[in-house]
Amino acid sequence: MSNDFLWVEKYRPKKVADTILPNGIKETFQKLVDTGELPNMLFTGTAGLGKTTVAKALCNELNLDYIIINGSEEGNIDTLRGKIKQFASSVSLQGGYKVVILDEADYLNPQSTQPALRGFIEEFSNNCRFILTCNFKNRIIEPLHSRCGVYEFNTTKKDLALLAAQFMKRCKFILEEEGVSYDEMAIADLIMKFAPDWRRVLNELQRQSISGNVSVKVDQVGGSFDDLFKHLKTKDFKNMRSWVVNNIDTDASAIFRGIYDRMYDKLNLQSIPQLVLILADYQYKNAFVADHELNVVACMTEIMANVEFA
Ligand SMILES: Nc1ncnc2c1ncn2[C@@H]1O[C@H](COP(=O)(O)OP(=O)(O)O)[C@@H](O)[C@H]1O
Ligand SMILES: [Mg+2]
Repeated sequence: MSNDFLWVEKYRPKKVADTILPNGIKETFQKLVDTGELPNMLFTGTAGLGKTTVAKALCNELNLDYIIINGSEEGNIDTLRGKIKQFASSVSLQGGYKVVILDEADYLNPQSTQPALRGFIEEFSNNCRFILTCNFKNRIIEPLHSRCGVYEFNTTKKDLALLAAQFMKRCKFILEEEGVSYDEMAIADLIMKFAPDWRRVLNELQRQSISGNVSVKVDQVGGSFDDLFKHLKTKDFKNMRSWVVNNIDTDASAIFRGIYDRMYDKLNLQSIPQLVLILADYQYKNAFVADHELNVVACMTEIMANVEFA
């Protein structure tokens, strides 16, 4: 119950139909609900796209017993086996088969735990299905891939625009439910920064709503961009890096945007197209990388190498 304090939990969709996903994959999940057939599955995609939500919603709608085991917390092979075995061998209250949701399976050791898991999938196959989720599917060993249907949650740029519009509606609905006033621009701003990490969008929204309204914020990085340009111009890698570390918690895309807004004052004119391409490239990658700091530092390094300053 206390979880309901967090909007991400309170407003977690309980049905596949209520999730915000690209049409293709959503229809595929809806078919599973309609036919009642759940294969072993591997959900892959960056954080906050709805992998865990879909796994729970499927079990909910099909009325199946399930447990969630988190691979990043329970990497120990004996604990894992003990948990699965205990769950798999107890009688299902619902009568149907049981589902083990193994969240963040890419944290399981690929030399020991993952191969063992492959064994468990076979051992318990008569009454258990497995849903594995991971951020990076290349961290999951091949024998597990081949025992599971792989479902890709990462979106294309084209789908992202559609999903962002749907999520905007959802944010407005949530804010209205919670009695929080808002500027549409402020929501759009959050979605532009963090989509498709919907968890992050909701968490930011809740954080901002503590003041009772969600409104447009002024650029928080502001004044210090002069320092950043100085480091870039003098190719001062060390100070550039500490600038990034000090400013990254604001948000990586605010850094890209801040450079973009100031480029006419700071760059030789002929370097501007190059800079725009570099920024756009890293801005895009930002949605998919695990380590935002590393991505921003790589971007700055590329700027240092290719751009001339006034
Ligand atoms: N596709 C989605 N549709 C609607 N809400 C979503 C979606 N993805 C994430 N959310 C919101 O973000 C929260 C976290 O999502 P979760 O399923 O745990 O993400 P993941 O497992 O992919 O990291 C959910 O509880 C929900 O509130
Ligand atoms: Mg998850």
